[in-house]
Amino acid sequence: MSLYANTPLVIALSKGRPLKQLLERLDQLDISPIEDMLVSRKLVFDTHHSNIKLMVLRGLDVATYVDHGIADIGMVGKDVLLEYEGDGFYEPLDLKIAECEMMEAGMVNEPALPRRLRVATKFTQTAKKYYAQKGIQIDMIKLTGAMELAPVMGLAHRIIDIVETGSTLKANGLETKAHVCSISSRLIVNKVAFKTKQIAIQSVIDALGLETG
Ligand code: PRP
Repeated sequence: MSLYANTPLVIALSKGRPLKQLLERLDQLDISPIEDMLVSRKLVFDTHHSNIKLMVLRGLDVATYVDHGIADIGMVGKDVLLEYEGDGFYEPLDLKIAECEMMEAGMVNEPALPRRLRVATKFTQTAKKYYAQKGIQIDMIKLTGAMELAPVMGLAHRIIDIVETGSTLKANGLETKAHVCSISSRLIVNKVAFKTKQIAIQSVIDALGLETG
């Protein structure tokens, strides 16, 4: 019998590309949903442990649910955590899933840039810090996706975006200009739950840590 088997636990997972790998990690801990989360339209799932539930949400909402203690544990990208402003959780583990890079990118044949750059991104907090550290003044343009289009269509000079294989940049005539930071999926734990459910949560952290190596 595992240490977490008797404590009620809610685990929130980020939907999207890494979900399959996140589920595989949990499966190695003997935590698996009764239904296939990759095909079902449900949002909350029972598992083979009657006390453990899994939720699947957008990344920012994973942070919100864990921040407010509705979910005890979350698995979510560092890109999201860098944008999130709450402080109701710890980030004890790098899951080393969905490893990629946050990059500054622009056109391959870039004309001379003005002193004040226009930068398009959905990662506005990360971009703000990055340019502030470099002492560069910018005008930020907030987008929600398809950032690569902004330099192509003349909306912005540069973008701050996630690069995994680089194929989206390449397909749009863009290239990386500078590295901003490394990104991967992280384990987050609600601060109160970490105290009240410490044995169960610590055993999840330890088991995932062993898998991660
Ligand atoms: C991400 C990112 C890039 C792309 C990079 O977008 O914003 O557009 O992946 O991947 P690549 O380097 O392997 O081409 P995603 O497809 O996750 O969709 P989004 O724009 O909705 O975030």
